[in-house]
Amino acid sequence: MNLSLKGKRALVCGSSQGMGKAIAQQLAQQGADIVLLARNMASLEEVKATLDTSQNQSHDILLADFSYPEQVVASVANYLNSGKTIQVLINNTGGPAPGPAHTAETENFLAAFNQHLVCNHELMKLLLPGMQAAIYGRIINVISTSVKQPLIGLGVSNTVRGAVASWAKTLANELGQFNITVNNVLPGATNTVRLEAIIKNKASKAGVSIEEMEVEEKSIIPMKRFGEPEEFANAVGFLASPAAAYITGINLPVDGGRTSSL
Ligand SMILES: NC(=O)c1ccc[n+]([C@@H]2O[C@H](COP(=O)([O-])OP(=O)(O)OC[C@H]3O[C@@H](n4cnc5c(N)ncnc54)[C@H](OP(=O)(O)O)[C@@H]3O)[C@@H](O)[C@H]2O)c1
Repeated sequence: MNLSLKGKRALVCGSSQGMGKAIAQQLAQQGADIVLLARNMASLEEVKATLDTSQNQSHDILLADFSYPEQVVASVANYLNSGKTIQVLINNTGGPAPGPAHTAETENFLAAFNQHLVCNHELMKLLLPGMQAAIYGRIINVISTSVKQPLIGLGVSNTVRGAVASWAKTLANELGQFNITVNNVLPGATNTVRLEAIIKNKASKAGVSIEEMEVEEKSIIPMKRFGEPEEFANAVGFLASPAAAYITGINLPVDGGRTSSL
């Protein structure tokens, strides 16, 4: 099975911590040159120092805020103008704030739509010509299992994730002819700062301790534990590789079996 990404470059968004960081580390291990992107230079420098360079990879850092799509476009367009090409795009950023859908303001939906769908789309447009020229492209979106089964208390997130999933499936239909695959990887409860915040929020709403809420959350997962970012990154590494050339348009949960649909 060919998992090598040697000679390929991957833009990994939201890579200063959590799953994005683990994905960057995984893809570097497979031989890719990595472009890290997030808002915090100090954390990105720390992540960069951990990336594998044993196959003579060189890694870069871009700063941009997904709340401002024009900033993301400017940063990546400027990078591409330096002559470098990118064949693997990992769309990933922070999740929308929790809360029910019926109390959310229009501006909450618009902000999440910008941060998720619009940024993903603009990045795809920027990188598409390079992927077509390389006859190799992988667009992988970190979304959520909520695209299969909406999660209680994440109203804005559920809504916008669905839009990203439909966008990706549509693109998969359009881009397969260029040897470009488009897939969504869906984290379940994964041990990151985001999960800590969600558990804390749920615990305070339910009036129980964080530990009690963790026990409850784990009890509904067949594997009876939270996932690790590295386990999530393994799935992304496979989908990014030549071995996954015939897999496109899928939603792959990495959730310890928590999603109850087929
Ligand atoms: N962890 C889970 O259990 C879980 C479950 C389902 C879905 N998800 C979703 O999966 C994605 C990744 O989750 P995670 O747990 O790895 O999150 P995380 O630990 O909060 O990390 C988010 C990453 O995105 C970056 N980021 C956040 N806002 C950004 C912005 N406006 N512009 C650019 N970069 C931004 C952060 O870096 P900076 O702050 O340095 O910019 C960080 O590197 C999120 O969308 C999350 O909602 C997570």
